[in-house]
Amino acid sequence: MKTFRLNVIPGDGIGVDVIREGRRVLDRIAEVSGGISFQYHELPWSCEYYLKHGKMMPADGMAILRDCDAILLGAVGFPGVPDHISLRQLLLPIRVEFDQYVNMRPVKMLPGLNSPLKNETMDFVCIRENSEGEYCGKGEWKNHGQADEMVMQHSIFTRKGTERILRYAFEYAKKNGKNHLLSATKSNALNYSMVFWDQIYDEVRQDYPDMTSAKMHVDALAGYFIMHPDRLQVVVASNLFGDILTDLGSAMLGSIGISPSGNINPARKYPSMFEPIHGSAPDIAGKGIANPMGTFWAISMMLEHLDCKEEADQIMTAMQHVLREGKAVTQDIGGKASTTEMTDAILAVL
Ligand code: NAI
Ligand code: MG
Repeated sequence: MKTFRLNVIPGDGIGVDVIREGRRVLDRIAEVSGGISFQYHELPWSCEYYLKHGKMMPADGMAILRDCDAILLGAVGFPGVPDHISLRQLLLPIRVEFDQYVNMRPVKMLPGLNSPLKNETMDFVCIRENSEGEYCGKGEWKNHGQADEMVMQHSIFTRKGTERILRYAFEYAKKNGKNHLLSATKSNALNYSMVFWDQIYDEVRQDYPDMTSAKMHVDALAGYFIMHPDRLQVVVASNLFGDILTDLGSAMLGSIGISPSGNINPARKYPSMFEPIHGSAPDIAGKGIANPMGTFWAISMMLEHLDCKEEADQIMTAMQHVLREGKAVTQDIGGKASTTEMTDAILAVL
């Protein structure tokens, strides 16, 4: 029997609902597999925690978090606590300090999804830089409240950070039988960061002569997502561009509640973190109607990362079964089921 130790951060809003259901799926997987089990260490770090303690996690939070096989996160952020606090005091430190420099986000149309693009072939992956770039948090705010007030928001692109994400994307493509890669740029307007990104891209691609690859300005690429999703295989993008493109990718599947996100430390020196791509959705929090699929898909990615491919596939198969039946799906994808009812249906298949 192999026991995986999971640090679980439900967070805020619907994060709490979807993680509760995610644990039910994991428990069922453990039950049916017979060979694996999960030990959960649930951490209350959230905006509620911030309002009580003045910080999103305790001072030794990162040490506590490190001690596990993987981290499962719901979402953080709630009205009353500025979003940059929940992001900068919890999410970003985890991604940066645990060197989770790859953010892996599949965009795959599952049969049964009722999106306007449901008849398109869509099975690609976005690989987003996750540790620097536009989200480095550096800048300056001068002359508060004055007529000459100004802010500067910097980006940091290092050779190491840029090269490793581009190389990871090419390697991923090669290992997964994909022969086409697109790099998102905007070097016409961003005359330092994206010119540099393009230059490193040109260097790295030399090592992959069998791969066809191209760069595309991110605005054009957004249009391309909609017009030609069937032509996409691997998309590599900076932190900000990848963030935006992958919300688009999830919406193309029919709802932002569907897609997962893996924050990966490829060296496996630190734990990787898995989460749905959506946020805490204050507008539907507490209503019991959040789509839990993004979390289940994230759990499937986590199991694959933990070398439990068979169990990972079982979750995807069960989800697709429920989608195809179409009876127990949540409102955002055209059904009437609650979060719990949709989970019940998936558990029944499992
Ligand atoms: P959001 O993803 O929470 O919500 C956007 C829209 O999608 C809302 O209408 C919401 O109801 C809907 N939605 C999201 N997830 C859904 C689900 N599972 N099922 C059905 N509908 C769903 O993004 P928003 O509104 O920009 O941000 C809300 C809060 O979440 C903010 O505080 C933000 O900072 C935080 N956030 C946190 C993230 C994280 O923890 N990784 C990621 C994105 C946002
Ligand atoms: Mg986002």
